[in-house]
Amino acid sequence: MTATEYVQQAIAELDWQREPRGLYEPIGYTLSAGGKRLRPSLAVIASDMFDGKREEVLPAALALEVFHNFTLLHDDVMDKASVRRGRPTVHVRWNENTAILSGDQMLIEAYSLLSKVRADVLPEVLRLFNKMATEICEGQQYDVDFETRDDVQIEDYMMMIRLKTSVLLANALQTGALIAGAGEADQTALYNYGIETGLAFQLQDDLLDVYGNPETFGKATGGDILCAKKTFMLLTAMQSASDRERNLLSRLLADKSMDSQEKIAAVTEIYTGLNVRQACEEEMKKHTDIALAELDKLSVSSEKKLILIKLAEKLLARKE
Ligand code: IPE
Ligand code: IPE
Ligand code: MG
Ligand code: MG
Ligand code: MG
Repeated sequence: MTATEYVQQAIAELDWQREPRGLYEPIGYTLSAGGKRLRPSLAVIASDMFDGKREEVLPAALALEVFHNFTLLHDDVMDKASVRRGRPTVHVRWNENTAILSGDQMLIEAYSLLSKVRADVLPEVLRLFNKMATEICEGQQYDVDFETRDDVQIEDYMMMIRLKTSVLLANALQTGALIAGAGEADQTALYNYGIETGLAFQLQDDLLDVYGNPETFGKATGGDILCAKKTFMLLTAMQSASDRERNLLSRLLADKSMDSQEKIAAVTEIYTGLNVRQACEEEMKKHTDIALAELDKLSVSSEKKLILIKLAEKLLARKE
């Protein structure tokens, strides 16, 4: 069984048929909606690499997926997003209070799952998890702060996506390896691989937010433009635009009365004219190459590294 099939099955077995329905139904709705199951898969893949027992990494893997889904409930409120995984988001299907409270409960469920990790490694697993969770909150705050700032640099953006996205992937890999008994150097190499693939992953997410097909992406496109998110693409456009285009771009992003679809179309046209898609793809490739170089440092056979080499390449081409 692949790592993803293994975690998929275990996620489906989680029971949300509890009362009150108003609290648990949105949790079941969210966790049954699919998704790539990337984070729990990474934990299991890392454990497999060091011949760990799958049932020993499973509680941490499940905790990571439930935690990830918790962040999405709150993120969709913050980003005013109405579609995820091809379905209405929780705050739209129910309301904002539901997204807040069911999200809170998912965070608690994540910690309950995590607490089932083998006692000898639990303190370290918990320390790393808490560090990661705090960094995600910090990243989410920067993401929101940047919406209303006009002095954001590309390096600020890279720092922000490392916090909001990369550390979760990196933690999943490190935790899987740690539970399987890997040494510190191996844990660090996997963590760094996770950071770099995570940067490429978020760059791609931001690219798909502009150029993706909503059918396969599962999310509405243009949301980042409407929120004036300071993405790599926007910052690159600002850098390479002429003064006239830069002013136009600023006016478009600040315009509160303009029709949403018109605004998205106008900003996208500027991006396309400035080739920012290519610039973004080059940046993704750069971080994927750094990620792959980290794998050289691992003390396992090249056969065992293959799955992570393939994964990094697959993520570069993802459409969902
Ligand atoms: C969405 O993560 C949030 C980001 C970090 C971009 P995924 O793209 O992994 O979402 P699912 O879980 O597969 O739906
Ligand atoms: C997601 O970033 C990061 C977290 C949820 C922590 P985005 O806001 O870009 O993710 P999507 O596009 O809504 O999935
Ligand atoms: Mg979002
Ligand atoms: Mg967001
Ligand atoms: Mg996004």
